[in-house]
Amino acid sequence: MSNESTVIEVHALGLTKVFGSGVRSVELFRDMEIVIRRGERVAIVGASGAGKSTLLNILGTLDRPTGGKVLYGGQDVFLWNADDLAHFRNRHLGFVFQFHYLMPEFNALENVMMPGLIARMPGGEIRARAEELLEKLGLSHRLKHRIGELSGGEQQRVAVARALVLQPKLFLADEPSGNLDSRTGRRLHELLVTLNEDMGLTMVIVTHNTELASMMHRTLRLVDGRLRLEGSGDPDRTRAAEPASVEEQTGGGPG
Ligand SMILES: Nc1ncnc2c1ncn2[C@@H]1O[C@H](COP(=O)(O)OP(=O)(O)O)[C@@H](O)[C@H]1O
Ligand SMILES: [Mg+2]
Repeated sequence: MSNESTVIEVHALGLTKVFGSGVRSVELFRDMEIVIRRGERVAIVGASGAGKSTLLNILGTLDRPTGGKVLYGGQDVFLWNADDLAHFRNRHLGFVFQFHYLMPEFNALENVMMPGLIARMPGGEIRARAEELLEKLGLSHRLKHRIGELSGGEQQRVAVARALVLQPKLFLADEPSGNLDSRTGRRLHELLVTLNEDMGLTMVIVTHNTELASMMHRTLRLVDGRLRLEGSGDPDRTRAAEPASVEEQTGGGPG
């Protein structure tokens, strides 16, 4: 199943999500389609309650759609069994949640190392990577602090480092700079762009931060269950979501 070719491109099609049933049911979107190309940086914006987190969770295989499919490299991931799906997430996806879900009984460094320990990587290597990421995120003085001893913004950066430590192919983040002051936020945004440009890290980021959104190749706005290419003002361009060519936008594209 999850070999290199399965993580080149994400294609969600016919995506429908309904919570509840009967008169109290809430339909967030129906028949939605999105293509995320390898090496792309995509922002998803929209009002609170529009369904952004739900959509991101489905793309990240953490929630199942009511209808439709999510294909990674052409493979329908929701047909895989739970173990294969968990392995795929661990190895190929880096997820930053709106509420970070760090483990309070461990320190910052241990939290960042955790995906590597789960993947049974050599301890020295994973530790070196975790330290390097935490340093890039301005946290080298907080390695041994437990999560509860860190500020909200520091916790958020630990969560970002944890999502990046296994060098995922796809980085999915839900308001990653929501808790950060503008200077720390900018540092994180610059790191993400660098990882994208230097290592081809594909990213889908839900954000309210206009600076971060402006650094992405595309911004999609989720309104009334539809994705619109921000700024096009044309609701029929939902498909849109599909760019003509990433190479054109990035001037050469990732390796
Ligand atoms: N597990 C759930 N059960 C029922 N309704 C839910 C559930 N999760 C989210 N919703 C509803 O779906 C809507 C969209 O939620 P969400 O995806 O979190 O929006 P956003 O991230 O854009 O603010 C909200 O109205 C929310 O109440
Ligand atoms: Mg949300």
